[in-house]
Amino acid sequence: MAEFCVDTTVNLGGIALRNPVLTASGTFGYGSEFAPFLDLRRLGGFVTKSLTLQPRQGNLPPRIAETPSGMLNAIGIENVGVDAFVTEKLPQIPEGVPVIVSVFGTAPEEYADLCQRLDGVPKVAGFELNASCPHVKSGGIEFGQNPKSLTQLVSSVRAATRMPVLVKLSPNVTSIAEMARVCEGEGADGLSLINTLQALDVNVETRRPVLRNVLGGLSGPAIRPVALRMVWQAAQAVQIPICGIGGIMTGEDAVKFLLCGATAVQVGTASYLDPTMAAQVADAIVVYAARHGFARVQDLTGALELPVR
Ligand SMILES: Cc1cc2nc3c(=O)[nH]c(=O)nc-3n(C[C@H](O)[C@H](O)[C@H](O)COP(=O)(O)O)c2cc1C
Repeated sequence: MAEFCVDTTVNLGGIALRNPVLTASGTFGYGSEFAPFLDLRRLGGFVTKSLTLQPRQGNLPPRIAETPSGMLNAIGIENVGVDAFVTEKLPQIPEGVPVIVSVFGTAPEEYADLCQRLDGVPKVAGFELNASCPHVKSGGIEFGQNPKSLTQLVSSVRAATRMPVLVKLSPNVTSIAEMARVCEGEGADGLSLINTLQALDVNVETRRPVLRNVLGGLSGPAIRPVALRMVWQAAQAVQIPICGIGGIMTGEDAVKFLLCGATAVQVGTASYLDPTMAAQVADAIVVYAARHGFARVQDLTGALELPVR
């Protein structure tokens, strides 16, 4: 079949991927939870739940809620901590699946420390700095919304590791191009965007917010056009590769991100509907590429035809 001729490999900031589809942080556990449903080697790779130096319990429930074409969450970075990740979770991942570790902290030194500890650990292909979690008391988004803090974060991590570093940016900013340029200037190898949009929903019967944390992050198809806009704007602003994230449910959705300038994509909320969704998206990109005469998936990146002005 024609699609077998398509070269699906991409290079995401020094991370060689067999195809451009990863799973998004916080929606795919530590990978092993999904192994009964999906051969992880069908993915380009996966991004772990954001890890911290110490284990964290996260926020109190209710911490997820459904919204029209989307989902609100305020998990609060519940995770097992870096040590348990290395000793208990990582050994369960099959060889040959690039693992991008999402790291989170309240100070640049914490991110740098985490990356240093994981530098050179087998199976770890690179890092994604969570500079964008919208629903924790400190850390995360504080870095992603302030160019000075973002500069300190990326430069600290850059000094701590030579492994590939992606920075996951927040959509909750005025100029995504400015934040993208900061990351590139400090030596980031790539960008991941977007994280969830800060949001609120209300139960009118109880007159309470649906989430105990009041505010949460909105994900799913509802945010896709916002994410596409931001990927496109960031791609105009920087040369480093971009991993597009936000509401990807189908191969066509993923292709939209590639056309807007993404080198790879991540599937998040869709994995809750069907744990094999990311692999299906990867297969469908190949079918699209073959149908449109693209011999290499990487040639789809930035191939958006703009109207003549
Ligand atoms: C339940 C849940 C937990 C998440 N946890 C994290 C996290 O720990 N770190 C992170 O960087 N992003 C986290 N995210 C954000 C996703 O990785 C992704 O950026 C976002 O959901 C948008 O993609 P989607 O619309 O495909 O879900 C989480 C999202 C959801 C829905």
